[in-house]
Amino acid sequence: MAKATIQFPRGFLWGTATAAHQVEGNNTNNNWYAWEEAGHTEHKSALTCDWWGGRWKEDFDRAAETGQSAHRLSVEWSRIQPERDRWDENALERYREMLRGLRERNMTAMVTLHHFTEPLWLTELGGWESDEAPLLFADFVRKTVSALKEYANLWVTINEPNVYGFMGYVAGIFPPGKKDLRVAFKVMTNMVRGHALAYRAIHEVQHEARVGMAHQYRSLVPKNRKSMLDRWAAKAQSSIFNNLFPRAVTDGKVKFLWNTVNIPEAAGTQDFMGLNYYSRDTVSFDLKMSGQLFGRLSYDENADLSGTGFIANEPDGFFEGLRWANRFGKDIIVTENGVEDASDEMRPRYLAQHIQQVWRAVNFNWPVKGYFHWSLVDNFEWERGWTQRFGLWELDVETQKRRKRKSADFYEEVCKTNSLSSEMVKKYCPEAMGKIFPD
Ligand code: BGC
Repeated sequence: MAKATIQFPRGFLWGTATAAHQVEGNNTNNNWYAWEEAGHTEHKSALTCDWWGGRWKEDFDRAAETGQSAHRLSVEWSRIQPERDRWDENALERYREMLRGLRERNMTAMVTLHHFTEPLWLTELGGWESDEAPLLFADFVRKTVSALKEYANLWVTINEPNVYGFMGYVAGIFPPGKKDLRVAFKVMTNMVRGHALAYRAIHEVQHEARVGMAHQYRSLVPKNRKSMLDRWAAKAQSSIFNNLFPRAVTDGKVKFLWNTVNIPEAAGTQDFMGLNYYSRDTVSFDLKMSGQLFGRLSYDENADLSGTGFIANEPDGFFEGLRWANRFGKDIIVTENGVEDASDEMRPRYLAQHIQQVWRAVNFNWPVKGYFHWSLVDNFEWERGWTQRFGLWELDVETQKRRKRKSADFYEEVCKTNSLSSEMVKKYCPEAMGKIFPD
């Protein structure tokens, strides 16, 4: 077969994404540290990738040398505001140094202001359950953006507020470990308020800012398409998990089952749509699952599963997510996409098949402007600790040594050529040829 190449538009951003608590190490003043200490996680984050100790430099070098033109990182609120009435200017200076590091490497910075963690003093006030949280968050955002604006103008206010709400307040797996739909709704409503205030604060401080959220889209399909109940459960789950936040920041209405809360100041507070996509579930109606709107989730029986079974390789669900994102009428940035795969057997095909979907979207003229792979280097995977490895580079947690995975070589070719070719697929994941470049 002749060489085939799918090419991306000029200026398309190629990068990876990370989050402060997952890579910095020694974050001891936030809700996740307390959660780890209380024994709720497989491992403790400890030093993680030691970015706070300076190893961000070598990892940014890796990213830059392999052709990545952007990086998405997050700042740790508990470092910048260790107590309610105290700012740590040294911490802000450290983040300025990191962002300067990206600029020196010709990389565009995207900064997330809240990625699952918050300072213990906020936890003591009740976290996002407290009606003070939105204002406190906006203060923190104003201070942080004022300090960092010289080096960044792409901001994600909150990462995956739907996952935060679901994992912390419905499934009880993230801190604070509650299982209460009513409280979940309160928390999510306050997050919408916090986002709206933060959106305005950022624009006041920086005119050229582009502000969005990183929404996790989960493709939820009825297990039996002929079953009305399965269809109902899939739709009910999707309307909350996928749609609550993007709708709220579009029209100012927070819809949760039969409740609607109007937050008019949240309308139109999104300059781009950040899309995080990992996988697709099938949903079957189950009376025992009342806490999850009667939907039981499972992967398709024939799914191509990752090492620990955590992720199914479902690129069609990604295309569906891109189409969904396009409906909100804003530029789209894929703020996360990736797979846990310590052996790196599945990642190359996962990567190739998902990049192909981005290209399909671009060809429909949907305004997809960039792709951030999760993640640059193995990092602390929340309650699952080190049992799952999402990095293009493998990390030896004991020695802090990094080893380049085959997927990183592959991604390097994609970033450097701004394309995906049949030669690359043949070289890194020949098993995916038939799906991407059929004869
Ligand atoms: C989160 C990341 C996490 C990734 C893989 C996303 O939901 O934003 O922090 O590491 O999933 O589980």
